[in-house]
Formats: sequence, C-alpha cells, structure tokens
Amino acid sequence: MKSVLTVKDLQASVEDKAILKGLNLEIKQGEVHAIMGPNGSGKSTLAYTLMGHPKYSVEDGEVWFKGQNVLDLSPDERAHLGLFLAFQYPVSIPGLTLANFLRTAVAAVQGEKVGGNGNGNGKPAMDLKAFRKRLGEKMDLLQMDQSFARRYLNEGFSGGEKKRAEILQMAMLEPEIAILDETDSGLDIDALRIVANGVNALAGPKMGVLIITHYQRLLNYIKPDFVHVMAGGQIVDSGGPELALQLESDGYDRYLHGSETE
Ligand SMILES: Nc1ncnc2c1ncn2[C@@H]1O[C@H](COP(=O)(O)OP(=O)(O)OP(=O)(O)O)[C@@H](O)[C@H]1O
Ligand SMILES: [Mg+2]
Repeated sequence: MKSVLTVKDLQASVEDKAILKGLNLEIKQGEVHAIMGPNGSGKSTLAYTLMGHPKYSVEDGEVWFKGQNVLDLSPDERAHLGLFLAFQYPVSIPGLTLANFLRTAVAAVQGEKVGGNGNGNGKPAMDLKAFRKRLGEKMDLLQMDQSFARRYLNEGFSGGEKKRAEILQMAMLEPEIAILDETDSGLDIDALRIVANGVNALAGPKMGVLIITHYQRLLNYIKPDFVHVMAGGQIVDSGGPELALQLESDGYDRYLHGSETE
C-alpha cells in the first residue's frame, strides 16, 4: 500500500502572524508534486511547518502520514517515519567529511528503525562496507564524482555543491516523501539541473516528492504529476504540468485578486 501524506486545513503562524490559512494537500508515495506561488505566499512556511521547525506554530488543522499525526512528532520522529525535508544538514562542520556525515544521518534515521520503535521498514542497520557500497552506487546514479564524499561538509561548498550534498542525502535516506524547498537566492542553472536530475533519478514508485519552487524553468527538467498554486496561505489551484506553463505566460495575477499576501 502507498504511504500518503495528508494535510488538512492547516493553519500556521510565525511571530504571531497568520501565514497558512487552511491549506489542504495530499501527496502519495510515487507522485511528484510542485508548488508554485508568489513571494510571501507561505511556501517555505509550509515546508518548515511540515518539518516541525519551532518558530512556526500550528494553530489548527491536521497532518497525517502512515496513520500517525505528524504534528505530534519531533522532527527526528518525522524523519524516522520516512519524511525527508531538505535543509536538514548543518551549515558547516570543519573536519567532518560528507561521507561521515551521511553515515551518521543514515544510522540516525534508518538504523534505529530496526530497534522496534514501530516505524521500522525492515532495513537492517548498515555496516561500513555496505554503507560505502551504497554511497558509491548512489553517487553513480546521481553522476557525482566519488571524491565529492571526501570533502568536508559544506566547507567552501558552492551553492551547486550544497544542492548536490542535499540530493545525495536524500538518495541515501531513501525517504517515502521528500519535501524540497528551492528557496530564494541564486540557484543557477547548474544547481537547478542538479536538483532536477536528482529528483528524476530518485523519484519512482517508492518515493514521492513535493518540490517548492518559483522557477518555471525547473519544471522544464522535472515533469511533475501535479502542480499547485499557493497564494495567501492556501492552495488556490491545482492541475497537471500544463498549469506550470500557463503560470509562466499569465503570472499569478488572477489568483491575487481579492487575497492579500502582504
Ligand atoms: N521567521 C519568520 N519571521 C517573521 N516572518 C516570517 C518568518 N518566516 C516567514 N515569515 C513571513 O511569512 C510570510 C510567508 O513567508 P514564506 O517564506 O513562507 O513565503 P514564500 O512563499 O516561501 O516566499 P518566497 O517565494 O519569497 O520564498 C512572509 O510575509 C514572511 O515575511
Ligand atoms: Mg520561500
């Protein structure tokens, strides 16, 4: 049976300001969803709220995944359950290689699953040899140079390299639903391609993806099954890939009428 992430009437605020105003969304394992929408419409707030960031308070609504109320779980528990939210890695840790970081991350998310907390997915904890083998395979799949894993985590990483590390982390954790927020500044075309190729290589029957982006361009590389428009803290329209093309030519004007985003 496919796992489903269900968001029902989610209302969330940050610094006492209501941002999400009754958001509904359903993502099944195996589906690729894209959310687009104007600046300030609450896209990142949705990602942070689903991750359980302490700054974002849930005022109302529900989030369900595999029979569990996600909103009752810590960020760690959400990861154990099979949710992946980008920006989970620390900013920069001198002396820690990406490979060692990933080994710790995989052990934290998957190793303990075996310990019988009820979330187990039956994967055995990995020994070092098995870990190295899988890391090598995933790097091949993502067409990454093997030497990249020997770099110190985020030390001097370019924007594109940070994206690579993030996608590699997603590949290693094998989440059932991954949420990627292609936030703000300066993703150049290479970084967009890294994200797109990664999602295309990894998305499949076992992994569903929610990709949040402003960049119509990104959706030239990733074919989403569903495109949603977010405005004023709600999903105001949903459709297929053609909706992204329509947004590119028409903009968001028709959604902004009558809703305030500022
Ligand atoms: N930590 C915060 N403190 C104060 N206000 C915040 C915080 N995070 C978000 N907001 C406010 O919430 C609103 C929605 O922001 P959010 O980042 O979710 O929008 P977004 O759709 O991701 O925008 P963008 O397209 O620019 O990434 C904005 O008005 C923003 O100023
Ligand atoms: Mg954002």
